[in-house]
Amino acid sequence: MSDDKLIIFDTTLRDGEQSPGASMTRDEKVRIAKALERMRVDVIEAGFPIASPGDFEAVQAVAGAIKESTVCGLARALDKDIDRAGEALKPAASSRIHTFIATSPIHMKMKLRMEPDQVIEQAVHAVKRARGYTDNVEFSPEDAGRSEIDFLCRVIEAVIDAGATTVNIPDTVGYNLPHQFGELVRTLIERVPNSDKAVFSVHCHNDLGLAVGNSLSAVLNGARQVECTINGLGERAGNAALEEVVMTVQTRQDVFPCRTGLDTTQIVPCSRLVSGITGFAVQPNKAIVGVNAFAHESGIHQDGVLKSRETYEIMRAQDVGWSANRIVLGKHSGRNAFRTRLKDLSIEFESEEDLNKAFARFKDLADKKHEIFDEDLQALVTESGLEAGNEWLKLVALRVCSETGEVPEATVTLWIDGEEQQSSAAGSGPVDASFKAIEVQVNSLTELQLYSVNNITSGTDSQGEVTVRLQRDGHIVNGQGADTDIVIASAKAYVNALNKIIQREERAHPQLGDV
Ligand code: KIV
Ligand code: ZN
Repeated sequence: MSDDKLIIFDTTLRDGEQSPGASMTRDEKVRIAKALERMRVDVIEAGFPIASPGDFEAVQAVAGAIKESTVCGLARALDKDIDRAGEALKPAASSRIHTFIATSPIHMKMKLRMEPDQVIEQAVHAVKRARGYTDNVEFSPEDAGRSEIDFLCRVIEAVIDAGATTVNIPDTVGYNLPHQFGELVRTLIERVPNSDKAVFSVHCHNDLGLAVGNSLSAVLNGARQVECTINGLGERAGNAALEEVVMTVQTRQDVFPCRTGLDTTQIVPCSRLVSGITGFAVQPNKAIVGVNAFAHESGIHQDGVLKSRETYEIMRAQDVGWSANRIVLGKHSGRNAFRTRLKDLSIEFESEEDLNKAFARFKDLADKKHEIFDEDLQALVTESGLEAGNEWLKLVALRVCSETGEVPEATVTLWIDGEEQQSSAAGSGPVDASFKAIEVQVNSLTELQLYSVNNITSGTDSQGEVTVRLQRDGHIVNGQGADTDIVIASAKAYVNALNKIIQREERAHPQLGDV
């Protein structure tokens, strides 16, 4: 055991957002960043400011809202990227610029069309320029996992000399195996003469399901920063999952020579927030944050756990934020109980008015649903947060007719830009009819990319949480809605997505942006 600090660098808002369809609005990014700050994440990579004006604004907003964590912006090793990142990060209490250039033979030859010496020169120039904005500069040799070791050593020595304070080793394509990757990190630390002047970091992708294993092997070999994402979100198969890295290091203190400073009880609330906002459901058997992660089904296991928890559990559910005490609220619960429970769930409101709005929703829900669980409260607060108060479109009422052998029909009343209007349409099912009825008035020319329903708790009176993903002209937005009636939840989610796209809050997806 040692007091060495393992720095946790969360890139949910940058690499996580590069998951196809996981785009987030500026306000959603700020909400996630605040949850990460509550969890005491050390560094929050908020985005790629040059990617689009929306990305720039989101990084700027996160930089302005976060006080305890360092806020980081990504930049290619290009002057215009670095200047844009430097500008976006100006409001930050503590900022970092993360600049990168590829170093593998295939990337240098086929993508960059540059000679190795030119790559070193550009990397050094980029780090020096970034140091003009902040003394906290991270450099990544992209595709380090497939780069030649001698060349990597030269690049790393040069960027540390130029002022890089963190050197991040990415396994960009998720190709490495744990023993190889650990050895790579150890060799770099041993061979680079000035390696003691920088923190070595790793950034692993999960193409072979090895992102967490590779990251942990690197930690055992000297890395002291891990880049990771909530729920393992990220480009293609994703990045190393923060919750798995952090809980492995905490649970196996007999093996790991370092500790994170995270408040692990924030893990589950944060996982739910990210999954709600992005519409990426967490698989039930996902380690730490899946609903089954602490559920014991077999009689032998249940018996063992009842006799002594340690027989089958290596962690305590409450240590990662599963509520041990599932206090149930109901229609007789008052504002105080509501506020106290939300506080226990680390949910805060910007103003008393926001709390009142959420409390009114809680009372509505309690009229329909007997018992309100923590999961219901979390969904309810997500929904309150969805209404920024300046919506162009609101769902006023919905009536649906669905009968065996008949074509379903929906009649919807919408509040559009200050006026109430009604329209009807038929569809292949009640949800389809509702969306079509909304489109009669809105004619959004959007394409539906995803429609998903999850029940928030169990039981037929559970709320359905719906995510709708729409695309228009390369812009992707996710809308969410929750209700005990899944057709109404669906219409709410559709309206929420339309508001995002129509109000032009949409941002180009980083992958679609002209970067
Ligand atoms: O996967 C990768 O190489 C990256 C870099 C920008 C660090 O995301
Ligand atoms: Zn990546």
